[in-house]
Formats: sequence, structure tokens, C-alpha cells
Amino acid sequence: MYRAPELRKLSREHNDALTLARDVRWARLSGEAWLAQRAAYELALAWQSAMEAHFGDEERVLRPYFTDAERGDFDEQHARLRAGFADLLASVTEHQADPDLAAELADALRAHVRWEEQTLYPALQSRLQPQELAAVGAALGVP
Ligand SMILES: [Fe+2]
Ligand SMILES: [Fe+2]
Repeated sequence: MYRAPELRKLSREHNDALTLARDVRWARLSGEAWLAQRAAYELALAWQSAMEAHFGDEERVLRPYFTDAERGDFDEQHARLRAGFADLLASVTEHQADPDLAAELADALRAHVRWEEQTLYPALQSRLQPQELAAVGAALGVP
């Protein structure tokens, strides 16, 4: 699917999130408790090191361009995911985190990323004027 160059950094980060969500699912399916706990911990770390900033970028840079309906869905999903990650972080102990919370969160994250990639971003990039897209790119640090 075509992605405007200004949005490609965020789309690449979506791929990273999908990979993490897949790892959580696979670790759980392995039946090995320590693997599931470790994958849950990796998900919590990824939130702190990358995903929280991604959420912030979308909220700060893209959100002003959403329609009211898009903003409603976006805000609801981001609020739910932020709360889920707060719970996951609270469960962290010694390189482990709660695998049940992580599995639930991974599913919600996958659904959110798919909605953004398949619905929200296509609508946004087709609606934005070139100068608006350029402003988005500049705000995201895209050269
Ligand atoms: Fe998002
Ligand atoms: Fe996103």
C-alpha cells in the first residue's frame, strides 16, 4: 500500500510493533512460562524505549488533522492502550512481566496498528495538502 514519505517512519514503527505482538503470541503458544514472561517484559521495554514516543508523535503531530470521528476512535484506542501499558509496566519484576496482560495488550495493539495502517493513515494522506504533509514530515524530523 502506498505510504506518503512523511508517514513512512511511523509506518516502519508499526511494523516493529506488529513483530513484538507476534513474539508475545508465539511465546505464549510455546507453553513455556518463562518465554511468555520474557516476551511480556520485552513488550514493556519496547513501550518505554519506542512505542510511547510513537504514540506521542501521533497525538502531537497527526491528531490535529483527524476528523472528529477519527479523533474519537483514536483517542479511545490510545487511552486504552496507554492504560494497558501502565498495567503491564506495573507488573514488571526482574526481567519478567505478566503474560496475560501482555497477550491482551498485544491483541489490542495489533488491532490498533491495523486500523491506523488500513484506515486512518490512508484517509489522512489522501486528505492532507502537500504543505500540510510537509509540516507533518518536518514535525516528525523526516528530512
Ligand atoms: Fe496510534
Ligand atoms: Fe501508530
